[in-house]
Formats: sequence, structure tokens, C-alpha cells
Amino acid sequence: MSTNTTSAYSDFHLQFIAGEWQTGKDGSTNTNTNPYNGDTLVEIQQATKDQLNEAYDAATQAQEAWAKQTPAERSAVLYKVVNILDQRQEEIVDWLIKESGSTRIKAMVEFGATRAITLEAATFPNRVHGEIRPSNTPGKENFIYREPIGVVAVISPWNFPLHLTQRSIAPALALGNAVVLKPASDTPVTGGLLLAKVFEEAGLPKGLLNVVVGSGSEIGDAIVEHKSPSLVSFTGSTSVGKHIGELANGGEYIKQVALELGGNSPFVVLKDADIEQAVKAAAFGKFLHQGQICIAINRVIVEDEIYDDFVERFLAHVKTLNVGDPNKQDTAVGPIINEKQVKSLKEKIAKAQEEGAKMILSGEIEGQVVPPHIFTEVTREMDLSRNEVFGPLVGIIRAKDEDDALSIANDSMYGLSSAVFTADMQKGLRFARGIRAGMTHINDISVNDESNTPFGGEKNSGIGRFNGEWVLEEFTRTHWISMQNEPREYPF
Ligand code: TAP
Repeated sequence: MSTNTTSAYSDFHLQFIAGEWQTGKDGSTNTNTNPYNGDTLVEIQQATKDQLNEAYDAATQAQEAWAKQTPAERSAVLYKVVNILDQRQEEIVDWLIKESGSTRIKAMVEFGATRAITLEAATFPNRVHGEIRPSNTPGKENFIYREPIGVVAVISPWNFPLHLTQRSIAPALALGNAVVLKPASDTPVTGGLLLAKVFEEAGLPKGLLNVVVGSGSEIGDAIVEHKSPSLVSFTGSTSVGKHIGELANGGEYIKQVALELGGNSPFVVLKDADIEQAVKAAAFGKFLHQGQICIAINRVIVEDEIYDDFVERFLAHVKTLNVGDPNKQDTAVGPIINEKQVKSLKEKIAKAQEEGAKMILSGEIEGQVVPPHIFTEVTREMDLSRNEVFGPLVGIIRAKDEDDALSIANDSMYGLSSAVFTADMQKGLRFARGIRAGMTHINDISVNDESNTPFGGEKNSGIGRFNGEWVLEEFTRTHWISMQNEPREYPF
């Protein structure tokens, strides 16, 4: 519930380091703009490597005392964060719309997911537990402790900035760790500074959460290579993720990585599916946030018998979607995050036509608003099928039969999410189990994230799982301690 009694947060031109709001000392400035109308929202002087070191020092120092606080004390901070999110819902949704180009619908979805993972994380301090295991050595007891991992480096993206940042930092903090966060340069507020304000207001002790605003290409490597973090939690592109994986394991200090990378989700419609429902799902799962979601539908695969019917109904439905101002209640498709991404989408549109796909829906690109584009007679070899689109363009592939549909669905170097529509649940389950991906949804879209179920992918989509006990394991370390209670006999 939002109230009018709380004054809006300000001072987003500052960095949050060691519990203080301070000016970035680098000579360069991040000009944060509204992707719909180009308005400047805030100018942030970027952080230097010295400020990054200061953040890591503060995190290292603060973490020890935080880990010793009782589970109830750590939970209380997280519950307070949930209360503050609720009080400031309107302010947060407004920032998501103006900074990340989220439509109102998407901003509400993102707010809900952020709230849910914070609530889930609030239960972690009391859920983390060790084990006692039997020993084959007479007189020995085996204890397995689960301890905080220490300092966690978080690098987050711009598409679901609030949620994808909170999905790492809330569990990390709840489990007794400290965090140094670098938000994406397109979303420094919703991807970091805004959350820092919320945690500060909730009473999180100083130094535990640091937000360092700087360009990935300038300070990214230093964040990963620094000796302090024991885990690097990265969400973003596969290319940068591979680079981070190499740095984290090839440099002076070996560290764990959790990599949540790109996707190429297949959305399969089998011939017995409820076509009307599949059409609505395909439109929402493809065009929510202009398709800029790692689990967005990237390939629509339809069985031959119903292909023409599906295409006709999908085209008719997509034509009804409102495109433009993300702040309007009924806008379905808003702006693309930045000009670089718009350029990449223009190239994809040209390439799809060059490769022989039939463009059955297009429209004028105005500023950064790209209207939905639909292509039919797309094959598995085409660029639209092989690569992640990250925009409101969709290719529809014709499959001969169920086996062919499964073969096409699996023909990807990614393995994040996926979906299949069928009236036969047993067939749906069989099909779903045949897909090599971390997540498959039967009779629903590929875009699903629940705070208590494992979220993550395989192949080039990354390593590790978020949410529930999966993230609880990811953000703690395992320590086997044995106790020899009677003298042991050694061979020499
Ligand atoms: P990336 O370049 O991967 O950016 C993600 C984060 O990594 C940002 O915070 C970025 O900082 C940072 N970064 C960039 N270079 C770095 C480096 N050398 N070391 C450490 N951190 C670095 O993604 P993008 O350009 O924003 O988006 C492009 C593509 O990424 C999309 O087309 C899509 O495929 C993918 N993507 C995937 C997801 C998910 S959820 N899987 C989310 C967003 C994007 P700066 O912003 O300062 O460069």
C-alpha cells in the first residue's frame, strides 16, 4: 500500500559506499535518461577503483559482525524492507517506468517479484541448517556447517533491474554476507541506489551493502578480480558472463560464480492445443517489456496442422496491442532501453528479410519505440532462431510433428526457459521432460519466476539457481568439521 506521508528519496547522484552517500571521484559522468522521452533523470559522477576498494574494505569489515547477529535480527531487517517497499510502491513503480522504460504492467510485475523474493529471503536466516553425517572411522563424528560465504560481488542488468538485483542481494544479506553491487549503467537507480535507500531506511548496518556506479568496461574486471569477494553473482549477457567466468577462475584469486545469462526460449504449440489461449500467451510472453527478458519467448514453434490458423489469430491479436508511452495504463509495448539495442533490432529485422523470412507485421520505429514485428516461415537456421532477440520481434517456425517440434526446441546453445501448449497433460509432461532447459512451463508462457522454485539455466544460459533453498546453498559455504572422540589407530 502506498501512502503520501513518506517523502520521496533523493540524491541519486551519489554513490553508496561504506554506509555513506558520497560523490564519485572518477572524471566521467553517467547521464541517466528516460528511454521514452530522452529526459535526463540524474547525472552521476562515476566511482574510481579506489572507491571500489573502499567499498570492499567496508563490506569485509561489516560482514563479520553481521554474520554473528541472530537470525531473528537479520530477518527483521528484511521484513522491514518489505514494509518499506509496500509504502513506497508508487514511487518505485514510477522510477521503473521512467528509468527502464517499463510499461506500467511490467513495472507492477517486477515490483511483485521483488517483494516476493525479499519476503522469501526474510525466512532464510532461520532456514539455513547444518547436518550430522555418520562416519566409517570409529569414534568420529561428522558435522557439516553451512556458513555465510563472506563478501558477494553482484553485477546486475537493466531489464528487470530492481528484481534481478534484489534476487541476489536480499538472499546474500539475509544469509549473513556483505555485498558490493554494480548496477547496469542504464539503470543505476532502480538497479541499485534505490534499493540502497530502502535497506538504509530499514536499518541495515553500515558497510553491508555498497553500490558502486561505474561502467562495466571500466571497473567490471576490477570488481571480479578483487581479492575480497568469494562469490560473483552476475546477471547479463552470455558474452560478458563468459568473460567473468574466466576472470573469476583464471586470475590470482579463485572464486565461485553464479552466472545467469541469455536465453532463447522455445514456445511450442502442439496441434491439440487451445489455440486462443496459446495466442494470448504467446503475445504476453513475447512482448512483455518489449521482449527484453532473458526468459521471453524467442522462438514460436507451431505444428504444421494448426500453423496457418495460429498465425492468423496471433497477427489479429498483436495488432490490437497499444504501443508507445509506458506510463499509460493500457500500453503493452514501450520503449527499448537504449539506442544501441534499437540499432541491433533494426539489423535483425533486415537480416530476417534477407534470409527469406516473411514479415507479416511491422511498423514505424519512432525514437526508441519499436512496434511488434512478426515473421513467418522462419527456419531453425535463421538468425531469429539461433540468437537471442531481446526485442519485440518474433519468428514463427513450422514443425512437421511433435518430434520435429522437440528437435527444433532443443536446437539451441541456450537452455534457460521454455513452454509447451497441449490439451494432453501427459503428452505435455513427456514433451517438457524432453527439453534441455532449466525451466519448462506447460500451458503457460516461458516468463515465470517464483521465489520458492529454482530459477536458472544450463548450456550457455549459465550456472547456478536462484530462489528457495537453491539460492540458500549458492550464497553459503559448506564446511565439514569432524571430531575424533577417541584416539584413532594410524598405520604408521
Ligand atoms: P551486459 O553487457 O552483459 O551487461 C550486464 C551487466 O554487466 C551490466 O551491469 C554491465 O555494466 C556489466 N558489464 C559489462 N561489461 C562488463 C565487464 N567487462 N565486467 C564486468 N561487468 C560488466 O548486457 P547488456 O549489454 O546490458 O545487454 C545486452 C544483452 O545482454 C542482451 O541482448 C541480452 O542478451 C543480455 N541480457 C540478459 C539478461 C538476463 S536476465 N539474462 C539481462 C540483460 C541483458 P554496464 O551497464 O556498465 O556496461
